[in-house]
Amino acid sequence: MAQLINGKELAENLQQETATRIEELAKRGIHPGLVVLLVGENPASQIYVRNKERVAKKIGIHSAVKRYPATITEAELIKEIEFFNQSTEFHGILVQLPLPDHINEDHILLAIDPAKDVDGFHPLNIGRLFAGMPQTIPCTPYGIMKMFEAYDIPLAGKKAVVIGRSNIVGKPMGMLLLAADATVTMAHSKTLDLPAVASEADILVVAIGRGHFVTKEFVKPGAVVIDVGMNRNAEGKLIGDVKFDEVEPIASHITPVPGGVGPMTITMLMQQTVECCERQVLDHE
Ligand code: GUN
Repeated sequence: MAQLINGKELAENLQQETATRIEELAKRGIHPGLVVLLVGENPASQIYVRNKERVAKKIGIHSAVKRYPATITEAELIKEIEFFNQSTEFHGILVQLPLPDHINEDHILLAIDPAKDVDGFHPLNIGRLFAGMPQTIPCTPYGIMKMFEAYDIPLAGKKAVVIGRSNIVGKPMGMLLLAADATVTMAHSKTLDLPAVASEADILVVAIGRGHFVTKEFVKPGAVVIDVGMNRNAEGKLIGDVKFDEVEPIASHITPVPGGVGPMTITMLMQQTVECCERQVLDHE
């Protein structure tokens, strides 16, 4: 039986720490602000954005959601971002992805001031992470590193396999594990004999976006299994990328879905909003 990694509980503890930091800033008249830009009506994005707003409010971050029709042009959206780059009210800017097909995501991410890039998606911040001088870090892999730390899971010298190579999760996860001295394999949908590769792992991070894709054949007994998946099954129920019931008996630690990685992502977003604010305001005192 695996030990459950309780992301919900850890997220609440870390949010409390961030809330305390926000109270300290408030005493000095400083109020961290986060603006979220939401384009179109993507139902999953609506839920994510609502959750972000709820947590921001709970811990005392000044937050605003700007909604734009799916017909907004790339140039118009960039103009909006440039406005918020100049604003002193908002220290963090998040453009919810995915964007409509006629907008080039790369152009949008490049338009965000790297100092306000709370997602850590700007190429400058990706490059900083790659070069070992991180500033903002993509929130999901950052939250997963906090889980390893909180549960005293050693990484140095361990074999880590990351399944999935997105810019949002897989690639930065690999860099963070490497920086923590793990031996990292980046696997993905084209990897040959994925179960054989995955079952070498002491640490297995799954971010492939396919419901119940990882079965017990992918998992070495005693491995730590982190499930980044957020999929809906035929009944509309939220399920992970890992077949939990089958893997849980053989893993040493495992994250549930929901209540695992999800709450950590939002928590790291809030922490990084506060850190961006501190760098922008305090460093100029
Ligand atoms: N879409 C799915 N996950 C994320 C995220 O972490 N940040 C942004 N901006 N969009 C997302």
